Amino acid sequence: MHLFLVGAGPVGLVTAVGFARLGHHVTVSDIDTARVATLAGGRSPIFEPGLEEALRAQTAAGRMDFTVEPTPPAGAAFSIVCVGTPTDASGPLSTAQVESVVASLLASAPPEHVVAVRSTLPVEGPDRLARLVADRRAAGPCPTVVTNPEFMREGAGLRDFDVPSRVVTGWLFPEDREAAKAVADLYEPLNAPTLVADARSVALIKLASNVFLATKIAFANELALICDAAGADVDLVTAGVGMDDRIGKAFLSAGPGIGGSCLPEQTVALPLLSSRLGVPTPLIDAVSRSNVSHQQAVVGRLGALLGEPLGGARIALLGLAFKAGTDDVRESPALAIARELRVAGATIAGFDPQAAVTARRADPSLDVARDALEAARGAAAVVIATEWPEFRSLDWTAMRAAMRGDLVYDTRNVVDRAAVLRAGLRLEILGRRV
Ligand code: UDX
Repeated sequence: MHLFLVGAGPVGLVTAVGFARLGHHVTVSDIDTARVATLAGGRSPIFEPGLEEALRAQTAAGRMDFTVEPTPPAGAAFSIVCVGTPTDASGPLSTAQVESVVASLLASAPPEHVVAVRSTLPVEGPDRLARLVADRRAAGPCPTVVTNPEFMREGAGLRDFDVPSRVVTGWLFPEDREAAKAVADLYEPLNAPTLVADARSVALIKLASNVFLATKIAFANELALICDAAGADVDLVTAGVGMDDRIGKAFLSAGPGIGGSCLPEQTVALPLLSSRLGVPTPLIDAVSRSNVSHQQAVVGRLGALLGEPLGGARIALLGLAFKAGTDDVRESPALAIARELRVAGATIAGFDPQAAVTARRADPSLDVARDALEAARGAAAVVIATEWPEFRSLDWTAMRAAMRGDLVYDTRNVVDRAAVLRAGLRLEILGRRV
């Protein structure tokens, strides 16, 4: 089938490749002409493992093409909307971009066309889309709009598309249930658990899933602080806790905090919803506060370990992306830690294997080194903030020689402990006993 994919961001490009690999022809549309040119040139505008090769292969096979046209090509049966729902002046999960694209599709696509909104929506988002459809339907037959949120992780997007934990689609009006099922059927070859429901419930499935994942991470992070103070080891604790299959091992790895374009924003959006609805949700309300508090506690711990004032100290910050496997720095704990350190008077030299450009764009005052050794030059301490595999095999003897101080503070438990200690460095690992 011919699909029209609107929004060439991380979700849109992975979704487009995923459907092309299922045999569909996917036309990808974006308003960013430079981004479309990059894609047409066989390059990926974002770092996502395997994406650039897959884009090239599907384009060469004639199953993908790229355009700035906002109108679906003739014969495209479905449009899949993957534009952003960022935080703006109206608050988290703004639907302005989604509504603009849906309104354009309602005006330009034929009545038999189906629009699937894959962007993350606030719970009241489907009502806004329903109003657009109702207004357009008053003027005559128009495309059907349904929702289809994704559950893909950055850095694992292609895998999460091919092996989805579930396929969920939502209808705005009960009479559109068949259209929602038709969108779910696009994923049929993936043999995933499928749920078709009203779009408000579907929006809440997405938000609740992410806030629950954030709750697990925040819980592990608070356990790490308890372990540091109590002399326990958070990896042993979470391994034991995760052995209970009612809890599970995933998303219990303590780190410097929760980042990315999704979880932080949604831990703010859900409490705002409950507040608007006038229902008490003290646990849900606490997750974003816990995340902010944790990142401050990590900087406080560094200050306590440093043995000298942070003011005037040079700190090497290894890892700037919000997690390994991506160049995305949105809500990155590493950048939050850099800001906190600068407030304390420290100077930062950052390094990241993939996110140097995106980090400089997000924080122009950040000094980004070419490699870890350059970042370590003259540093009182080295802080590991992202779990890049490269940081498992650093030359700590050379790092030691470059540093002024001797502290390595690993918030991701990724370094080769023996190598760090052999180099005569002091090693502290968040929540873990060295
Ligand atoms: C998330 C959801 O996982 C995904 O299902 C949804 O579709 C989009 O949002 P993503 O934003 O890519 O995916 O990031 P994720 O892998 O969830 O990690 C979020 C943050 O939590 C990162 O900063 C990561 O480092 C951190 N994290 C994750 C931990 O600190 N510990 C963990 O155990 C897992």
